[in-house]
Amino acid sequence: MKFLLLAVCAQTAAAFSGGYLSQLNGGNAANGAVINGVNGANGVIDVNGSGPAFVPHQVLTESGPSQELLDLISHQVSVELMASQAYMQASIWFRAREMDGMAAWMLDESDEERGHGKQILEFAMKCQFPVTLEPLAAPTSVWQSPEQVWAEILALEQNNTRNLLAIAAAANRCEQFGVMAFLDPFHVEQIEAEDKVGGILAKVTYASEGLLWQLDHELGMSLETHS
Ligand SMILES: [Fe+2]
Repeated sequence: MKFLLLAVCAQTAAAFSGGYLSQLNGGNAANGAVINGVNGANGVIDVNGSGPAFVPHQVLTESGPSQELLDLISHQVSVELMASQAYMQASIWFRAREMDGMAAWMLDESDEERGHGKQILEFAMKCQFPVTLEPLAAPTSVWQSPEQVWAEILALEQNNTRNLLAIAAAANRCEQFGVMAFLDPFHVEQIEAEDKVGGILAKVTYASEGLLWQLDHELGMSLETHS
């Protein structure tokens, strides 16, 4: 589109301003310049094939994604998969203690984190960003109480929030505004996730045993109504 616009502008200038074009092009445009060469590879427009090349400044200096950004996006795919594993391990912990509501909630979140990883991967592939998967470290599996599990899940979400903000900051530095727009819903989701998990942690921390079972039931039911 930029090239088309430039070509139209140049043609208009050639038609109506032969005087100053003839000075710029060493007299070639005295009888009306004809655009006869547009090099799409480097953005150079060649007037009459012999005049000085016009270099569209903005096109040639437009920066691509920085290596820092590419590394962070590639890493984030594995981070999301690791979060999926952590949620699944938490689900296993609750399931083994008959807390099926929390187990189901954690399993649902595990699927969601894997979905995030796939979304980021898909976006990276569309942008032709390279992605290399990393070995997934085994998540923590030993907890002493439901409170410990939820506290670790909250820390995981807070860490993920920081990761996504770091990617957005890197995208901003190299002016990859498409990446920033793509990340927007992720940021909102992180705010909601921290609010949700933080709220549950507060209840679990101060709940009596009876209330803990009630909360477990409620979380299971929230999935029923959600789906
Ligand atoms: Fe996520």
